[in-house]
Amino acid sequence: MISVRTDAGRILIGNQLLPQTGKRCHTLGFSSECAIITDTNVAPLFADRVKQSLKSAKFRPTLVTLSAGEKSKTLKRAGAICDRMIAAGLGRHSFVIGLGGGMIGDISGFAAAIYHRGIPHVQIPTTLLAMVDSSIGGKTGVDTRAGKNLIGAFHQPSLVIDDLDVLKTLPRRQFNQGFAEIIKHAVIGDPKMFRMLKVARASGLRRASETHALQSLIQRNIQIKSRIVAKDQRDRSGERALLNFGHTIGHAIERAGNYRKFLHGEAVSLGIVAACAISVKRAGLQPDQCAAIVDLLERFELPTRLPPKFPRKKILDAIKFDKKFEDGKIRFVVTPRLGSAYVADNVTLDDIREAVQQL
Ligand SMILES: NC(=O)c1ccc[n+]([C@@H]2O[C@H](COP(=O)([O-])OP(=O)(O)OC[C@H]3O[C@@H](n4cnc5c(N)ncnc54)[C@H](O)[C@@H]3O)[C@@H](O)[C@H]2O)c1
Ligand SMILES: [Zn+2]
Repeated sequence: MISVRTDAGRILIGNQLLPQTGKRCHTLGFSSECAIITDTNVAPLFADRVKQSLKSAKFRPTLVTLSAGEKSKTLKRAGAICDRMIAAGLGRHSFVIGLGGGMIGDISGFAAAIYHRGIPHVQIPTTLLAMVDSSIGGKTGVDTRAGKNLIGAFHQPSLVIDDLDVLKTLPRRQFNQGFAEIIKHAVIGDPKMFRMLKVARASGLRRASETHALQSLIQRNIQIKSRIVAKDQRDRSGERALLNFGHTIGHAIERAGNYRKFLHGEAVSLGIVAACAISVKRAGLQPDQCAAIVDLLERFELPTRLPPKFPRKKILDAIKFDKKFEDGKIRFVVTPRLGSAYVADNVTLDDIREAVQQL
């Protein structure tokens, strides 16, 4: 097992960690009442193990299971979670465990942030995306009809438990989408990891024999994201904006596909391809490096071209709805070379239109 210390708290990465949940929470000195928030796909797979472990450490867990899927990430559901916690007698000294992917991480963290003005949050991410991205950085929240993550709070988890065994049940497409964020991290901050990924394969990393490789990969990603977050905890100074590489166009593609056509990581993969094309034009990225990034995304079975009939105009409409253009220009994250990124102010709507047309 690896233990990573971040500014916020501890992250454990390894195998067979779910049965240690109770013991680990005990060392943090939490009181006995707690809630496990999970979803309908994850509950039958792992909830019992976590619950039993907590009970053996003398905790009294209440299980709250939401319907799986982004549609559960609402203020109404967060309120319902709080009501369940009140009914179960959780108080100021209780804590909340989020057992699931990023959806559960975000809403359970938000419930922990507002319950009695903030009680500790423990994350047990069960998707690769949640391990390398959403469980780090303390952003919690819910969606509204107007857009994703519009209501939320910063609330750092006290502990994150990354048990690699849980990834074995993750559908292949879900596993692969985590690599979009991993490749993003490599492009914006870690050229060495980029070279390592060029000789890896998603299918290989899933096999038990490569658990060690997956463990160090997750550790490396946690370090990259925490390093960036530490410089800009509240997303104010601009440093954290670098994590949005590929996301301006990626989010617009997700929205244009009504959040059904592409998973988040798949839309981000397409957004990275477009951001690289824009980087060649506006930031001097070498075309061979741009091609290497596209190759790497393909290697992890991520989309790099839009289906021919996909409504490209809807993507541009979504960007115009989402972002502020000043004098036809937008703040946009570009990469001048592998391992480096900055927020450019010379990217135009036409640049974006051209990159989307070429996708
Ligand atoms: N807070 C942040 O900084 C941050 C960053 C990135 C993304 N997010 C959020 O994360 C969410 C996306 O995360 P996600 O992709 O993990 O989505 P998710 O939580 O919806 O999980 C994806 C699917 O996989 C299922 N699943 C989860 N673990 C499983 C397992 N081990 N075996 C089988 N099935 C499993 C889930 O039930 C769900 O159907 C979005 O809500 C997004 O806004 C937050
Ligand atoms: Zn993302």
